Amino acid sequence: MALFGRNKTTVGLDIGSGLIKVAVIDHSKREPELVRVTVTPLLADAIVEGEVMDPGIVAEAIQTALASAEVKSKDVVTAVGGRDVIIKKIQIERVKEQQARELMRWEAEQHVPFDMESVELDFQILDPDGSGPEMNVLLVAAKRELVESKVRVLTDAGLDPVIVDVESFALHNAFEVNHPDAMRGVVGLLNIGHDVTNINILDDGVPLLTRDLTVGTRRFREDLQRERGLSADDAQQLVQGFDRSPHLESVIETRGEEIAVGIERATAFLEQNSRGGHVRAIYTCGGGSRIPGLNEMLANRLRVTVQQANPLANLKVRDGALASLVTDEIAPLLMLPIGLALRQVA
Ligand SMILES: Nc1ncnc2c1ncn2[C@@H]1O[C@H](COP(=O)(O)OP(=O)(O)OP(=O)(O)O)[C@@H](O)[C@H]1O
Ligand SMILES: [Mg+2]
Repeated sequence: MALFGRNKTTVGLDIGSGLIKVAVIDHSKREPELVRVTVTPLLADAIVEGEVMDPGIVAEAIQTALASAEVKSKDVVTAVGGRDVIIKKIQIERVKEQQARELMRWEAEQHVPFDMESVELDFQILDPDGSGPEMNVLLVAAKRELVESKVRVLTDAGLDPVIVDVESFALHNAFEVNHPDAMRGVVGLLNIGHDVTNINILDDGVPLLTRDLTVGTRRFREDLQRERGLSADDAQQLVQGFDRSPHLESVIETRGEEIAVGIERATAFLEQNSRGGHVRAIYTCGGGSRIPGLNEMLANRLRVTVQQANPLANLKVRDGALASLVTDEIAPLLMLPIGLALRQVA
């Protein structure tokens, strides 16, 4: 289809440890339109906690995913995340962008616990129009090896990664479009995946902190098998079903507690914050946000509103874009790929 060959479409590729997700967004009209989505399961353990263990299998699955999305272009937007990416808000003297760029390496040495020789740095001035003597800058440092290995997998699959974004920024992007409310006050964005749960804390839309927990739907499924004696299939069905069950409740009790503690730890520093901020609301996405009863458990345990997010809330969707996928079942998993596809490639 010529449609996807045009430059004005962006292909967002989210290489998850459970599912590879592709979202294609057409930017040629006044408002972005989602034109295609596919999800392709990845063989167990090909990616573990964000690290590619079997590049051959992953490259092949990416090709399958793009072929089923009928993507002809080689250009994709993807992202890196995890503990090898550090995002930090810092204050520096107010200088011009070019000068800030020069200052960044020195600043990064103070703030980033990685060897400076092995990192890629980027930054964004958060208040470019401000006039005070200092300005707020968002500093991003990613281990070069992480970026290179991601790029290698893609080039092995015959692709050209035109943008390598940061996962939490892409999520942020999709939230901003679909849940503008999440940009108000201190909120937590939780992406509960197959292997990993990302916690992102935002203050009026500015990222304050990101953390990863090694818990996701895989752990829930394994617990159901081990502790409740369910088959893998039955366990999987409970995890991605719509109904609560006594089996699930006990697993949610323990794994949900793990997530709740992770959120408490991530937000403990807010107590010392001069603004005395506390988390106003939590928004969840990812496959784990569909676990029946988990959002409620977190809301009760943390005494905060927990809302499941929807990346299609404010996005135009072309008829047939989801093909045979059921919107309610798949939408919560699409936050990241849609955030990636919302990027416009020049
Ligand atoms: N409709 C669905 N289709 C497939 N899997 C689903 C669905 N709903 C929930 N799930 C569960 O969600 C998991 C995938 O979630 P998600 O796509 O967010 O994870 P991932 O991005 O692959 O993993 P990670 O981010 O940890 O690398 C599946 O393994 C499955 O357990
Ligand atoms: Mg994921």
